Formats: sequence, structure tokens, C-alpha cells
Amino acid sequence: MDSMLIEIDHVAIAVRDLEAAVTWYQDVFGASVEHREDVESDGVAEALLRVADSYIQLLTPTRDDSPVAKYLEKKGEGLHHVAYRVANCADALNAVKASGGQVIDEVPRPGSRGTTVAFVHPKGSFGTLIELVQVAS
Ligand code: CO
Repeated sequence: MDSMLIEIDHVAIAVRDLEAAVTWYQDVFGASVEHREDVESDGVAEALLRVADSYIQLLTPTRDDSPVAKYLEKKGEGLHHVAYRVANCADALNAVKASGGQVIDEVPRPGSRGTTVAFVHPKGSFGTLIELVQVAS
């Protein structure tokens, strides 16, 4: 069968100081911010820097009970999740469930940029937090 994974949508990196991280990517690599968003439901602020058809997503918590705040506390700054672009988030999520994988989102939900997303637990995916991203058509 054809792969459900169309593209790396983004690689997410958790940082303590979003402005400092954005400035570093701009100054060192000449990268530019294509999108910024506060995702209230996840308690994060994000900046997306384009790399070809994908993004680096710099993430910082906006409140103490944010999962990203807990992640920074436990593991420090660094790689947080890998997001794969899929044609249909529900189909990809069901494929994970059918394989016996653990999911964080039982059903797809709204993500940033008008996307539809679902997270897969790292326990069932060889240690990587995976986000399935369906881009609005
Ligand atoms: Co993400």
C-alpha cells in the first residue's frame, strides 16, 4: 500500500525562551518565521520556520500546567515531537489503534493553522511522540 505519511509536516522543539530561539534561527541560518500562534487548548505558543515544504516548530509553554512545561521540567529543552502530514487524520489514527498502538487523542481535534491533528503516545511508537497532521484542503 502507499504510505499514509505524505511529508514531515514539522519537527517540534521545546524551548524556554521562544524569542531567543527564533532570533537564533534567524541570525544563524537566515530562517524566517512563517506563522505564529498561541494554542490556548495546549497552553503553548509556537513559531513556525519554513524548511522546504516542512517546518521547524519552536514551542514554549504559556502556562505552568501545559504538557510542554512539564516536558521542559523533566527533560529540558530539545526535540519534542515529529509531525507527519497525512491525507486523513482519522484514518491514520485508526491505523495506529488497529496496530495496538497507544494514542493520546482518541479522535482527531483542531490544531494550529486550521489543521486537524492527533497525537500518538511514544510508548507505542518506539519512543517518539508523533503528531498526525491533516492540512485543511
Ligand atoms: Co506539532
